Amino acid sequence: YCVLLMDMVTPIRRALATCVPLLWFVRVADGMPDPAQRDLLTRQETSRQTGGRVTLTAAELKLDVQLRRLKEREMSAAPFPPAVHFFNAKPLIQESPVFKLLQEMPKGAALHVHASSLVGVDWLVKNVTYRPHCYVCFTWDNSVRFVFSDRRPFPRWDCVYWQLLEALRARLGDPTGFDDGLMQHLTLFTEDPDGEYPSQEVVWEKFERAFVAAAGLITHAPVLRDYFYKGLEELLHDNILYLELRSGLSKTYELDGAVHDKVWTLKTFREVTRTFRADHPDFLGARVIVSVKAAVKEAIQLQKDFPDVVAGFDMVGREDGGRALWYFREALSLPADLGVTLPYFFHAGETDDEGTDVDQNILDALLFNTTRIGHGFALAHHPLAKELSRKRNVAVELCPISNQVLRLVSDLRNHPAAVLMSEGHPMVISSDDPSLFGTTGLSYDFYEAFVGIGGLRANLGTLKELALNSIRYSSLPAHLKDAGLVMWQKKWDAFIFNNS
Ligand SMILES: *[C@@H]1O[C@H](CO)[C@@H](O)[C@H](O)[C@H]1NC(C)=O
Ligand SMILES: *[C@@H]1O[C@H](CO)[C@@H](O)[C@H](O)[C@H]1NC(C)=O
Ligand SMILES: [Zn+2]
Repeated sequence: YCVLLMDMVTPIRRALATCVPLLWFVRVADGMPDPAQRDLLTRQETSRQTGGRVTLTAAELKLDVQLRRLKEREMSAAPFPPAVHFFNAKPLIQESPVFKLLQEMPKGAALHVHASSLVGVDWLVKNVTYRPHCYVCFTWDNSVRFVFSDRRPFPRWDCVYWQLLEALRARLGDPTGFDDGLMQHLTLFTEDPDGEYPSQEVVWEKFERAFVAAAGLITHAPVLRDYFYKGLEELLHDNILYLELRSGLSKTYELDGAVHDKVWTLKTFREVTRTFRADHPDFLGARVIVSVKAAVKEAIQLQKDFPDVVAGFDMVGREDGGRALWYFREALSLPADLGVTLPYFFHAGETDDEGTDVDQNILDALLFNTTRIGHGFALAHHPLAKELSRKRNVAVELCPISNQVLRLVSDLRNHPAAVLMSEGHPMVISSDDPSLFGTTGLSYDFYEAFVGIGGLRANLGTLKELALNSIRYSSLPAHLKDAGLVMWQKKWDAFIFNNS
């Protein structure tokens, strides 16, 4: 065997090559590594991955075998959806049998979703813009604004000419085409994502324009109420039982221009959640993570007044454009200084640039005792932060489609979370801004994580652990976590029963 090997090495390495095989292959006389040893190592490595220590029941194992077969088929087909931009992959994913199973699977909780993009734009356009008293205006920078008003709104700096939407739609005579146009203003979706969004800057600009455009619709008080309800409905429909919503708690307005404050928004959210729970007893509930730039004092007060509905605080905005956590260190130290608790849920490390402020946010988030890490895209590159986050059980909120659409990674098989998944780092799957990316619920993100990032090795145990994680790492108090786990298990058992 030495001769064979030596043929393949350069003469310079020849001396080395003669002794290395002797050291490596002493166990088996014919030079082959011990197959039992190989099996053992493979099993040991697999046991470290997310869900690697989950024991599956006989019925679960049956479904697991089936899932693997389906996944193998998908991986050998071209194009492979996780390798393609989500906007082009979406129709492929919708056809996938794995995806259909994931839709049916009880996924637990959605822990990283922004309120401004909770509900699909279909509903915003087909339902909300069809309500009476809706005015529309097209801005010079190719965006759109909406406002509900009982009289024609005054011109303002960005909007000189307001038209009654109902009248405009009737006059143009092509409601479907017109509505499609409106939808394009409210999402990032395009058939040519690489051409239209050549850089992170360009896609973030569009992101912010869409965000501002939707605000006029969502912040109309009667709409907001329906919007929250519809959002919970979409989640439940995707077999999710609990939500932690990041929200800036925008002020809302009435037809006559009257304005409600943040507390009104929070109370409305609580009330809608209660109504929804009464209508759907198999839904556990929803809480808010107050996401306002540096408004720590305000968040402390809100958490004190609404402990059941306010989970904690996050800094909002695009990390890369805005200030880093360390810049706000004084404000962020306030709760500790005052001796009050305000759990943090920071976005951190949503970047592919190493060594920048945003990159540094990962460690700072941990220093400020963050409860979870939003994205943590950069975490795999920070050995110490990774160790800390693991030791303290600080889960990463992985949002694969968001990372791809916002251009941190193109082929999701190369997502750095593949490393975290292979070593079982605490992790949950979420959707970030579903309406902007054209997703609802969590099934699309689960698909990308399970098929793309996890690859063939991710199995039913992985899925089970990810779902369980979403309840474990939620902000819920222990007794509600227990209730959630019981509720989830019941749904899970039914899912397994129906599919094995
Ligand atoms: C819009 O949504 C509301 C609440 O979700 C519903 O009651 C209403 O019937 C819908 N209207 C249309 C036109 O779809
Ligand atoms: C973080 O937690 C540690 C240990 O519990 C505590 O000493 C420290 O004050 C906390 N820091 C902040 C900023 O809350
Ligand atoms: Zn986010």
